[in-house]
Amino acid sequence: MKEPAPNPLAQLLQKNQFIGWTCRVDYEHATVLTSDDLKAKASGVPLHCFLLATNLKADSIDTAGEILLLRVIGSAPLPQDAELLQRKSESLKNRELKIAANDSPKSEFQFGGLLCRALGTFYLQNNRLRLGSDVENYSNAVDLDVYRPSGAALSSIVNYVSAERAAAAEADAQRLGIANGMPAFPIGTVRYSSTDRLHRGDDAEKAVFNLNAIDFLARRTAIFGMTRTGKSNTVKQLVSVVMRASRECRLKIGQIIYDLNGEYANANQQDKGSIAEVFPEETIRYRMIPTPEFQPILNNFYTQIPEGHHTLRGLIELNRVSRSSDIDAFLNMEFNEPRREDFENDTTFTHHHIRYQRKIAAYHAVLARAGFEPPPGFKITFEAGASVKNKVNPIIDPANGLTPMQAYEWFQLARQIQDELITGNNQNWVEPDMNVLMNLLLQKNDQGSYIPGFRVLQPFKEYHAPNRTTDVCDEIYQHLLAGKIIILDLSVGNPDQRERLSKRIARHILASSMAVFNTGQIPPNIVIYIEEAHNLIGKGEPLTEVWPTIAKEGAKARLATVYATQEVSSIHPNILANTENIFCAHLNNENEINELAKYYDFRDFSKSIIRAQDVGFGRVKTLSNPFVIPIQVDKFDPEREKQRAGK
Ligand SMILES: Nc1ncnc2c1ncn2[C@@H]1O[C@H](COP(=O)(O)OP(=O)(O)OP(=O)(O)O)[C@@H](O)[C@H]1O
Ligand SMILES: [Mg+2]
Repeated sequence: MKEPAPNPLAQLLQKNQFIGWTCRVDYEHATVLTSDDLKAKASGVPLHCFLLATNLKADSIDTAGEILLLRVIGSAPLPQDAELLQRKSESLKNRELKIAANDSPKSEFQFGGLLCRALGTFYLQNNRLRLGSDVENYSNAVDLDVYRPSGAALSSIVNYVSAERAAAAEADAQRLGIANGMPAFPIGTVRYSSTDRLHRGDDAEKAVFNLNAIDFLARRTAIFGMTRTGKSNTVKQLVSVVMRASRECRLKIGQIIYDLNGEYANANQQDKGSIAEVFPEETIRYRMIPTPEFQPILNNFYTQIPEGHHTLRGLIELNRVSRSSDIDAFLNMEFNEPRREDFENDTTFTHHHIRYQRKIAAYHAVLARAGFEPPPGFKITFEAGASVKNKVNPIIDPANGLTPMQAYEWFQLARQIQDELITGNNQNWVEPDMNVLMNLLLQKNDQGSYIPGFRVLQPFKEYHAPNRTTDVCDEIYQHLLAGKIIILDLSVGNPDQRERLSKRIARHILASSMAVFNTGQIPPNIVIYIEEAHNLIGKGEPLTEVWPTIAKEGAKARLATVYATQEVSSIHPNILANTENIFCAHLNNENEINELAKYYDFRDFSKSIIRAQDVGFGRVKTLSNPFVIPIQVDKFDPEREKQRAGK
């Protein structure tokens, strides 16, 4: 005889996990009657645990029934509690008096009520398990059997994905060229309470919680928790999930981590193994100062002129270098290349552009004198103008390119005959900025006295990357397109400079991906991880700034944002409201909790979030989950990750 197919509904019910009966159910709540014996047999009933209430039997093949999914949110008084309490205290007194020790009516005292929130109703539709998010109908007369699911049954509850969400995820995957949907990966196990001696004891089969990789692509993810509660560990898990999904689906997904503390780039003392160590071939690390095995975040000062100049300004200010008026004037200079659209006609534009070129030439000569290594074969090129050229040196034409040394000599000669040069048509040859740059180059001020000039810049040579031929932003974007993990180690370097560079890179990623989106194509998948997010997407930031724009609008351009902070309340409400995935470990005050409690059913966990300070004990709501799930996030294990990666 053919075995009947297992009934997915009845499979959720585990006979040995029976804990009691409902004595009251309504649309929102259920009261469950349980006993000490039953609870003990089922390894306890912690606060927040899931319960299943049904009139189906565990081995039923009846497909017509349904199962209510409940969450324990407290104890419930029973009508007879007052009387029982009175008798119990009497009995205790009697026991104390050593009277009637043998006839204590203990069994009567062991019953109690549990207050539960109704999370939804499991039923079968076309033989597939379905979870409605409410209670459609309830019976006042029928007592439902109640089970505390564990192990595999609990796993299937917490990993339940609705048919609609599964279809949407599959359609999303198909748009990305993935035929069979994206995989899910385990990142933790269900944990209800800080004290986990029983429900996660040695004998208990832990229920694995899986993350659906597709939930993160082109979405926002928040990771909340006080310091040292496992935010960075969760980020590492996510990076690994995305990397593994990318490999399995052969879909390139770029990931970029703004690593403020250098913890992802380096193996640090507390955490053995870092992302860079686990994924050595896919990880590219950038740093602000030259470091072996790191790429310089810095630019080539000869080619990225405003950036380089800005760096110098920051460094001189930071190092409180004593400044002459020429250095002050140098720091205040602008190096923006004139754009044709800003001028009335070609003639005025060309005129301005030639002047700009000369200024850049003098600046390049200053850099070269200060020992900033020019890029290989670098030539300084500018239009000197026929009469100036002939006066300075009729044989050499700077328009054909000068070596930095030749340029220095050329400017030196020009300075010697400066008075001659600034007559007639050449009135504007030595305009103020040019004059300052020539003073720095030749170490003489307008009065002819010695000034340190270019020497002021010498100590900062190491901030210049002579071999960089492309803009660092573009280089990073190309790596992201190739599906690499970029770690921007921002733990060292001048803070102002760091912020400017971080923003510039972010802006470049946004602009490049938006440009693809605007042509109607599918932009590449990129996940951006930011820590201390309240500083970047805080309430005070205008939504037009680059970080809030990425967080709010990046999804269109398939930019996913993962942000970590301990300050829920300071995140821009507009961004929080659009965040699809939320992880929350311990928070220490009600202000923060109240902010989070506005979302989904996080309110149920308010007290436990303040109270339980366990590292990695998080409450999770992802796009796929219909409700919040309390889990213990696995510790990022570099050895296991390496094995998974086949290393
Ligand atoms: N799930 C976990 N299980 C066990 N240990 C963990 C877990 N998560 C993190 N840890 C450990 O706890 C410490 C703090 O974790 P982590 O650095 O991830 O916290 P954080 O919230 O990012 O802290 P911070 O606010 O300082 O950045 C680390 O030593 C880490 O290895
Ligand atoms: Mg951290």
